Amino acid sequence: MSDLTPDELKWVLNAADMEARARERLPLGAQTYVGTGAGDERSMADNIAAFQRWVFRPRALVDTSARDLSTSVLGRSIAFPVGVAPYALQRLLHPEGELATVRAVSAARSFMVVSMGATCTLEEIAVAATCPLWFQPYLFDDAGYMAELVQRAEAAGYSAVCLTVDSPVFGWREGSMRNPHILPAGVVWANMPPAMRVPNSGRWLTGGDTWRWAMADKLTAGTTLPLVLKGIVTAEDATLAVEHGVAAVVVSNHGGRQLEDTIATMDALPEVVAAIDGRAEVLLDGGVRRGIDVLKALALGARAVLVGRPAAWGLAAAGEAGVARILELLRSDLSTAMAIAGVTSAARVDRALVTRRPA
Ligand SMILES: Cc1cc2nc3c(=O)[nH]c(=O)nc-3n(C[C@H](O)[C@H](O)[C@H](O)COP(=O)(O)O)c2cc1C
Repeated sequence: MSDLTPDELKWVLNAADMEARARERLPLGAQTYVGTGAGDERSMADNIAAFQRWVFRPRALVDTSARDLSTSVLGRSIAFPVGVAPYALQRLLHPEGELATVRAVSAARSFMVVSMGATCTLEEIAVAATCPLWFQPYLFDDAGYMAELVQRAEAAGYSAVCLTVDSPVFGWREGSMRNPHILPAGVVWANMPPAMRVPNSGRWLTGGDTWRWAMADKLTAGTTLPLVLKGIVTAEDATLAVEHGVAAVVVSNHGGRQLEDTIATMDALPEVVAAIDGRAEVLLDGGVRRGIDVLKALALGARAVLVGRPAAWGLAAAGEAGVARILELLRSDLSTAMAIAGVTSAARVDRALVTRRPA
């Protein structure tokens, strides 16, 4: 099925609309790859529900006419505080894959985290980018290959290494066991070690469960790139992350795809922000579907958020234009919410803007 036309995209008004349009275009295996999580998918659903547990305390009669959505991540400015989360196998969803995503993200002046499971090489993606890029490796016991990837990312102009620490082994995902995806001919894991470049081989990275903090220290020892840890949801690990010199953490449970019944990211955010205490940047992902979600995360101390599935559905529905539409919807909704809530700057949102929804 072809991409949604610009006229059709106009009627996509939120992430749920985009998901419906994307599902019409995808075989069951690819829908399952994006749309499911671990176990009974309680964590996946709870990430979304957790946003509803916070409500606004909007302020009246504030001049927000010059409201500023821009901010920065790791010193690089972005037009609004929403980036695209790392997610693998983008050419399963659209022939242009990561290249379509990076073009949309660049045009929106946002930022993108590129997965080690990408279907284009790190270098191809960098050539197409004008936005900040972070490279996301998984835990893998081939230190030489990991070091080589990090060096390649640095040489290609990436601005951070974002190590995903919530995946020492692959999560228990029954949806994908029942309905595995089938990759189009020629689509490969372009950055995986050569012996496992062909997905569907049933092989996954080995040795993730041997990782300790000292190994994270070593990952960036040979480069100038700052280290970001993705998958931190406790004060204990946030404190350790600062002690190990990380530049940022992403509060994430992998969109509910790894450990079922992990705390929802919006529930974990306050304790991580308190433990970090301004010593590193804090980002969040999981369940962000609307601009109001972004504003709530900012109020609780996130500097920016990442979106996974909304961007994936956008890519599947209309390639670059679909990703652009999702980012534009989140940006416009955030701008509207800031105006009504009395917020003038996305980089300075008062904690008092939100409170727990009364029981
Ligand atoms: C289809 C899919 C593939 C993913 N692949 C990766 C990956 O390669 N690396 C990674 O760190 N996280 C991966 N994630 C997790 C996302 O980075 C992110 O944490 C999650 O999607 C956020 O939740 P959301 O989908 O509700 O926005 C993936 C998520 C999805 C949906």
